[in-house]
Amino acid sequence: MTVKIAVLVSGNGSNLQAIIDSIEKGHIKNAAINVVISNKANAYALERAKNYGINTVFLDPCEYDKDGYDRTILKILNQYNTDLLLLAGYFRLLGNEIIELYRNRVMNIHPSLLPAFKGLHAQKQAFEYGVKVAGCTVHFVDEGLDSGPIILQRCVPVLPGDTEETLTARILEQEHIIYPEAVRLFTEGKLKIEGRNVVT
Ligand code: GRF
Repeated sequence: MTVKIAVLVSGNGSNLQAIIDSIEKGHIKNAAINVVISNKANAYALERAKNYGINTVFLDPCEYDKDGYDRTILKILNQYNTDLLLLAGYFRLLGNEIIELYRNRVMNIHPSLLPAFKGLHAQKQAFEYGVKVAGCTVHFVDEGLDSGPIILQRCVPVLPGDTEETLTARILEQEHIIYPEAVRLFTEGKLKIEGRNVVT
C-alpha cells in the first residue's frame, strides 16, 4: 500500500526536497507525495514540487477567514486521500479540526531540541540563550505550540565563532536527515505512540 503524503510549506522547501530525495532514492518506500500546499505564492518549495510533477496548490490566506482556510486545506487533503500530512517550514498554525481528524498523522520539523525554544526563530533563541548544544526535532502535531509527541531528535554543537547563521545551517543539515527518517519509520508502520512517548 502506498502512503499518500501531503505537505504544507511556506518557504524554501529544503526539507521537502530531502523527503522527495529519500523517496526517489528508495530509502522511503511505498510512499508518494501527492500534493504540496503553500500559503505563499512565491514559495520556492512549490517550484521544487513542480520539478517532480507533484501537484501544487497556493491558498491565499487573504481570501479566507481562519476556519475557511483550514476547511479548504481539509478538502484538499480528502481529495488526495491523504494518509500523512507533513508541515515543512509552514509558518501558520494548523486548525484544531485538522489536528483532530489527522491525530498522530501530522508531523512537523522544528529547529530546536524541544521542549526548549518553541515558536518562531528557534535557532536565534538558542543562540542568544548561549546554549552549548542545539538541534532539531520531528514531532507529531497536537493542539499546542510545538508540543506534540517527539519522534526523533538530533543535536549539534555550538562552536566558538558560530553566528546564528552558521548554527542554523548546521541544524538544517540534521533536519534533512531526521525528517525523511521519521517519514520512513511512519510509512513502515514503525512508530508506536504510547501517551507522550513515541516508540520506534
Ligand atoms: C526549517 O528550519 C524548519 O525546521 C522550520 O522552518 C525551516 C524550513 O526550512 N520549521 P525549509 O523550507 O524546509 O528549507
